[in-house]
Amino acid sequence: MPSFAVATASHTYESVVERGCLARLGSLIPARAGRLFVVTTEDVWKLHSARLEAGLGGRPFHTLFFPGGEENKRLAQVEALADRMLALGGDRTSVVIAFGGGIVTDLAGFLAAVFMRGIPVIQCPTTLLAQVDAGVGGKTGANLTGGKNLIGAFWQPLAVLADPGVLVTLPRREYIAGLHEVIKCGIIASEPLFRVMQRRSRQVLDADPETVEHIIAESVRIKCEVVSADEREGGLRRILNFGHTVGHAIEAETGYTRFLHGEAVALGMKAAAHLSRLTGRLSGPVAGEIIDCIGDYGPIPSASDLAVDNLLARLTKDKKTIHGTVHFVLATSIGSTEVVAGIDPSLVRAAIELSLA
Ligand code: GLY
Repeated sequence: MPSFAVATASHTYESVVERGCLARLGSLIPARAGRLFVVTTEDVWKLHSARLEAGLGGRPFHTLFFPGGEENKRLAQVEALADRMLALGGDRTSVVIAFGGGIVTDLAGFLAAVFMRGIPVIQCPTTLLAQVDAGVGGKTGANLTGGKNLIGAFWQPLAVLADPGVLVTLPRREYIAGLHEVIKCGIIASEPLFRVMQRRSRQVLDADPETVEHIIAESVRIKCEVVSADEREGGLRRILNFGHTVGHAIEAETGYTRFLHGEAVALGMKAAAHLSRLTGRLSGPVAGEIIDCIGDYGPIPSASDLAVDNLLARLTKDKKTIHGTVHFVLATSIGSTEVVAGIDPSLVRAAIELSLA
């Protein structure tokens, strides 16, 4: 069974990628655990509750429904969920089970991080994006009016159970958006994974089960290695933000309504590939391979009407901007990157213009 360890200063845990792995949920609950709280959305629960209940093997639990949506990923929801847990008898022995997409894994993880100053969480991501990125690695949080994920905590889970079987109900647009995070993993750390995304796009787009399981497992392997080396994004973990600097600016500029996160990251990765070429790190043909591969997983809603000046202004508000200096993750080849600061603004402008065209 593909299973990858994350070893951090606080503890070591497994991220499992396997069809049917939710059946193992019960075995991961600590022997002395008290009440179990499953945080989910009505939609996910309607589709997949049977798998989770079977995984818990008859053990009692409370289901806490979260309305879903970026607009609800707020502290007020965390407080409401915590109040509900308390009313239901939650205490320091309680365990949170996050069962949903990235919004749920972020918010429920944060709830676990702050309830009674921290209780365990088991992450059970149900979207491709959450399986390969958001649900893995211990980043949790909520949105502020000023931006996404600006409040939160690093809170590593007891375990991650990524069951590719749940993806069959995922809307196609969400599936494809998640594939862009897989392409990102290939670009930053694994040429073989990139070649699968480039050369086997038919099987990937047709969701061939073996191929899907392979690309999720490879992405999770990469993420677990990176997080083990740098849990708190002091250095190496920044490579996971390839394409995210411009991607976040595009999401914010369009009010988080036009693009799914993975789609904005796809545009951001095109900008990063152009910038890698314009700064002499990638040859034209290699940058072209990245841009063509992203194009194979289109179409993405048009961004050609966005004002480049506005996007440039938003870059300085990025979490990765330090003392006003924007940091970019740039590719030096397929499979390796470097973090670069102080790039000539005219090159950044040109890269963004090319990516939006
Ligand atoms: N999504 C980027 C990270 O987990 O660091």
